[in-house]
Amino acid sequence: MTTDLAGSPVLRPRPPVGSVADAAEALAGAQHYDVDVVRKDFPLLARTVHGGKPLVYLDNAATSQKPTAVLDAEREYYERHNANVHRGIHVLAEEATAMYEGARTKVAAFIGAATPQEVVFTKNASEAINLVAYAMGNAGASGPRAGRFRLGPGDEVVITEMEHHSNIVPWQLLCERTGATLKWFGLTDEGRLDLIDGVITDRTKIVCVVHQSNILGTVNPVADMVARAKAVGALVLLDGCQSVPHMGIDVADLGVDFLAFSGHKMCGPTGVGALWGRGDLLAAMPPFLGGGEMIETVTMERSTFAAPPHRFEAGTPMIAQAVGLGAAVDYLTDLGMDAVAAHERALTAHALDVLGTVPGLRIIGPPTPIGRGGAISFAVEDLHPHDVGQVLDELGIAVRVGHHCARPVCQRYGVPATTRASFHLYSTQREVDALGEGLLRVKAFFRL
Ligand code: ALA
Repeated sequence: MTTDLAGSPVLRPRPPVGSVADAAEALAGAQHYDVDVVRKDFPLLARTVHGGKPLVYLDNAATSQKPTAVLDAEREYYERHNANVHRGIHVLAEEATAMYEGARTKVAAFIGAATPQEVVFTKNASEAINLVAYAMGNAGASGPRAGRFRLGPGDEVVITEMEHHSNIVPWQLLCERTGATLKWFGLTDEGRLDLIDGVITDRTKIVCVVHQSNILGTVNPVADMVARAKAVGALVLLDGCQSVPHMGIDVADLGVDFLAFSGHKMCGPTGVGALWGRGDLLAAMPPFLGGGEMIETVTMERSTFAAPPHRFEAGTPMIAQAVGLGAAVDYLTDLGMDAVAAHERALTAHALDVLGTVPGLRIIGPPTPIGRGGAISFAVEDLHPHDVGQVLDELGIAVRVGHHCARPVCQRYGVPATTRASFHLYSTQREVDALGEGLLRVKAFFRL
């Protein structure tokens, strides 16, 4: 990794944004972060689109770009070490196993896990959440140790209206299978959780909540949710898809029981994600998928299962992708997640200022940089987001339009869809300015 964090700052000093002290503080921190040096690590960011227009990539909540270090790690794995893991005694098998398990160790350290065995590789965050939901569904047929996970009629699962579909549908399916009841916290007009009493009760078995919303950008009060859940003995699953890539995470500090996240949103490859679970819980949790690698012994009548994490990794895993994710973790660690978070906080504050200058633009979500991250959804007068996105694309600006896999949020705010700009560690104030100018051109195009 070639980033020189001590290099001269390239972000222009600006007056405090949004009149918010913490944004000014973030800006000061971000001035030591050389984003133009960071960008050189990402080959794709140098490309042009539509006949030579510089790419302005603002669709980072959907997926991030990859630094050379990650591309090299995957390539080197295939060129020099490729073999199946945990199955061979030859040199390649041992190297591949060491690289795969080494990646687990890196991911564990990155999120503050007590041991690498608390990290289960999955294909993405959706699979990580489904793993817990299906394991809970399987608990009825498992022994007494699985009692903690058993659900039936009268039990409750609590989610929020802010979840993306990955943290809604698995719980709907679990409730259908077990007869448990699904409940949820609603949203305030400003895009925050409406944390009323009575949603979490002594019948609640698990509370599943997003850390940072992919559509509203809201950062949720995890400590409050954990306190409410723990008061009734419920488990807490945190969806970290949009937080693990953007801020320092320590699972012990957060106090949650499970954390799910994706590799591809944190500069790693697609096809790999992770479930972190507290060691004692994973040890008691029944399996999700059955197959090779997850067993202890198999007879024709029955099987016994390996200890975590292997109990939850049936079949040949995503070895090269895990190695790439390990390289992404190294990359993020070298940059420093506090520096990344400060950079993105300053950028978000600037973006809210810039978007505030576009007449007729309505932010869907918290309008100030406090308690929110760098995924900003908005509506432009009566224009359909697809029209907005298409004109922006002509200008080289990539945003996401649609319901962002969080349709209930759109319904809550009375919009069919939104336009969403989302930032990452390599996004620049120039790109935010280009978005602001692009939106004025969108309005001119539609004669608004
Ligand atoms: N959940 C991803 C997004 O927000 C795909 O775009």
